[in-house]
Amino acid sequence: MLIAHLSDPHIRLDGQLYQGVVDSNAQFAAAIAHVNRLDPRPDLVLLSGDLVDHGDAEEYAMLLRLLAPLDVPVLAIPGNHDEREAFRQAFCGQPWLPAQGPIDYAVGDRGPVRIVALDVTLPGLHHGAVSEASAARLDQMLAAEPSRPTIVMMHQPPFDTGIPYMDLYSCREGQLLASVVARHPQVERILCGHVHRVMQLRFGGTVLCTAPSTTTAIALRLKPDATPASHIEPPAMLLHHWRPETALVTHFVPIGTFPGPYPFA
Ligand SMILES: [Fe+2]
Repeated sequence: MLIAHLSDPHIRLDGQLYQGVVDSNAQFAAAIAHVNRLDPRPDLVLLSGDLVDHGDAEEYAMLLRLLAPLDVPVLAIPGNHDEREAFRQAFCGQPWLPAQGPIDYAVGDRGPVRIVALDVTLPGLHHGAVSEASAARLDQMLAAEPSRPTIVMMHQPPFDTGIPYMDLYSCREGQLLASVVARHPQVERILCGHVHRVMQLRFGGTVLCTAPSTTTAIALRLKPDATPASHIEPPAMLLHHWRPETALVTHFVPIGTFPGPYPFA
């Protein structure tokens, strides 16, 4: 099973640049074209939040237009830049979409790997949190299929990254999440967005991995007094490849066309 993981496209109205410098819509269109060119074709595309920049219905309409050429089913969660009800409206009719409340769901009919989505966003706020209720929902969803390899997808990472201006807006109560996940050894990965960078760590007895953005990279500044910044680095995505003999292998994939291929011996 092959799973493409795109994050933080920050779609805007036509002609509006993200942060005044990046055509986030064009970069997302390039990402979708890249997914469609992959051979083998992924079975599933995960979008781990900040699908649009302001949460307006018009931005979601643009998102859907950009997703239309995609030949692969999509599973999405909102991020702090999304607006939960406009998100729900945009994905109305998708079998995975809950009718109300947080966008929590489990999908297991796309291949051997089951996806459990956990909405840790707090409407109107940039940080997220794991409440007792969401921890209980996660526990329930994971307990339903204890022997299926499982990915947990959420937006804000539940750990301190060491980048001070991102850690103000992390997912709080991460230890509660870690204690739930630790009870379910079938969890192969926790996948997050939000930080616009790739990070990996051990968390709750599994591997946690954050995704790059298709739009910008948040600056890697590790000093406690660092000021917020971002860079235009090569846009990228992750490809999670599941095979019984290796379990889940995660690949970092820059988006675009690059010189090569060259033979090597
Ligand atoms: Fe973002």
